[in-house]
Amino acid sequence: MGEKTFYVTTPIFYVNAKPHIGHAYPTLVADTLTRFYRQRGIDSYFLTGTDEHGINIERAAAARGVEVTKHVDEIVDEFKTAFAPLGIEYDQWIRTTDPRHEAAVQKLWRILDERGHIYKSRYEGWYCSNCNEFKDVDEKTTDPICPIHERPLERLAEDSYFFRLSAFQQPLLDYYQQHPEFVQPDVRRNEVLSFVSGGLKDLSISRVSVKWGIPVPGDPAHTMYVWFDALSNYITALGWGSTEHEKFDRYWPTKEIARNALHLVGKDILRMHAVYWPAFLMAADIPLPRTVYAHGMLLRGGQKMGKSLGNAIDLGVLKRHFAPDVIRYFLLREVAFGQDGEVTYEALIDRVNSDLADGLGNLASRTLTMIRNYFDGIAPSADKNRHGPVRRQIEESKNKFEGEFEALNFSRALEAAWAGIAEVDRFITHNQPWKLAKEPSKTDDLMYVLATAYEALRHLLLLVAPALPAASREIWKQMGLAGDPLTVDPNKAVWGENVEASKIDRISPAFPKLDKVKIMAEIENENVAPVSEQPTSKVGQQNTTGERAAEHASTPAPEAAAPPVAQVIGIDDFVKVELRAATVLEAEKVPKADKLLRLVVDLGEAQPRQILAGIAEHYSPEDVIGRKIIVVANLAPRKLRGLESNGMLLAASVGEDGRPVLATFTEDVPNGARLK
Ligand code: MSP
Repeated sequence: MGEKTFYVTTPIFYVNAKPHIGHAYPTLVADTLTRFYRQRGIDSYFLTGTDEHGINIERAAAARGVEVTKHVDEIVDEFKTAFAPLGIEYDQWIRTTDPRHEAAVQKLWRILDERGHIYKSRYEGWYCSNCNEFKDVDEKTTDPICPIHERPLERLAEDSYFFRLSAFQQPLLDYYQQHPEFVQPDVRRNEVLSFVSGGLKDLSISRVSVKWGIPVPGDPAHTMYVWFDALSNYITALGWGSTEHEKFDRYWPTKEIARNALHLVGKDILRMHAVYWPAFLMAADIPLPRTVYAHGMLLRGGQKMGKSLGNAIDLGVLKRHFAPDVIRYFLLREVAFGQDGEVTYEALIDRVNSDLADGLGNLASRTLTMIRNYFDGIAPSADKNRHGPVRRQIEESKNKFEGEFEALNFSRALEAAWAGIAEVDRFITHNQPWKLAKEPSKTDDLMYVLATAYEALRHLLLLVAPALPAASREIWKQMGLAGDPLTVDPNKAVWGENVEASKIDRISPAFPKLDKVKIMAEIENENVAPVSEQPTSKVGQQNTTGERAAEHASTPAPEAAAPPVAQVIGIDDFVKVELRAATVLEAEKVPKADKLLRLVVDLGEAQPRQILAGIAEHYSPEDVIGRKIIVVANLAPRKLRGLESNGMLLAASVGEDGRPVLATFTEDVPNGARLK
């Protein structure tokens, strides 16, 4: 039998980028779920945090020219500062640089090692430092590109410890079979099943070339693979592996007690959570969480919002224009959880106006205003023995809401609550209490209508409170009810019973109507590209195996017509890119890399820079020496074939084979001149 607890986690966020709405999304969902379960009296715990190790973090700090420890502290603060105004109240923020986490991960490693699941060998292959993942690449391919990030993969050849993942293929398949709830939703479960059925290779879980990581016990020249370190956070945060393991004992499932432990993850990181993580846990003989639920991506113009594309909705802009509750409600209602969903400011404003201002907010104002006007602010009591259509609809909404919410179908759950709102609105309009109020003989009818509307509103607020915590508290207060709706279990609230309300006096709209034209103009004036309703292209959607789905591949454009611009950006985005004029001083081919030229370029700085350019098939070293070129000067350094590249040249991509043609000037321009 399951003990009634609820443990929910979000992915821990990489500290190499500013927080954006894609990070806030699972965190708002986790917060809402925690409020939902707590309201129902269930002992709940909500974990979020930051993933702070790995080559990319090291590089992000280097690009900013700050110590890596300082860098991670600063970004962690940025995340916390961005989440707080959204009303996110987590119980713990785990940081993978916390020494308690580091010690526990080392313990997990030692256990796997002692049980024979780890061995030392040598790895040679292609690695994406953005995915933190080795990629399967046809060995004939030179200079392969990450299909997700569209950046060159790095060739790695080094000693490495391996985890015997291959040994877990059958145990995993058996587990998925016996526990269909483990990977959800079903479409993702099927992808995982087919991936694992296709065979699992052992997993390289240490790096010698990465210094910023947790040292491997007994062999500190190696640091642990970031995903081994990061995934472990879900148990180390609860004190697993330490002397303070009360939370682990309380919230993590045991062999005897099937507790509700839920990992919310984006579908792009499902493989790590649904394959690697359960295999590590099985290897250590630790029970698995109940569910790994993969949500979809928030899209803008059909593409995943995020750092790589620089198209994410800015949390600062959101915060300036919208109340935290409406952002939360919008994300839960607009995007079917588990599926990708387009997100725009316009859609947000429309939702607020239709569902909140005209829907819930209007129902509350009209009901309370009538009670104030006709009954001097004292709400008439609902008759607990009378079962009218409104009460029946509220019961139906409540039952549907509970089921859909527990199944993480937030949009449908809220739809069910709004069916209740619509029914009360119809009831009021049909009974015309404003007419009843004019006829003294109809006082009983008037009392019945307003008591019903008031009681329905009370029950509806109990339902929507996890999704609208501040606004429902505010309406609750205006109703003259004490406390907070989040402290009342809707399943224990009985129609017409235990309603102790004080006089209604102050009524103010909980959701003021938003002026779309004005807000859109303000957002545009802030010089941040507005997220407007652009034609949706499917490019950029991914399945969980990380590759772009073949059916979404873009069709090559005909020769004459250039393809349409993929996405509009604001000037703020453009000025982040520093383009500078430069001269090529030296050039040579990179051995064993057909496409690469190593260039030394003068950007007017104290020292010339080394840049690697994939143009060798079209330009010989002699062609480019002495040429004036244009360089993206503030690109983070990256390594290609073991050589560091500090910038990127601009070139047009011409014809079907994308032949590079270098950009240059027709007039004399000094090195270092900035392009604007
Ligand atoms: N650090 C890893 C997770 C380790 S968990 C043990 C990581 N970090 S991340 O910062 O890159 O991404 C964190 C989460 O944000 C992922 O689940 C990812 O899917 C989510 N999102 C990032 N952009 C997103 C959208 N545009 N839409 C929805 N979620 C997105 O991966």
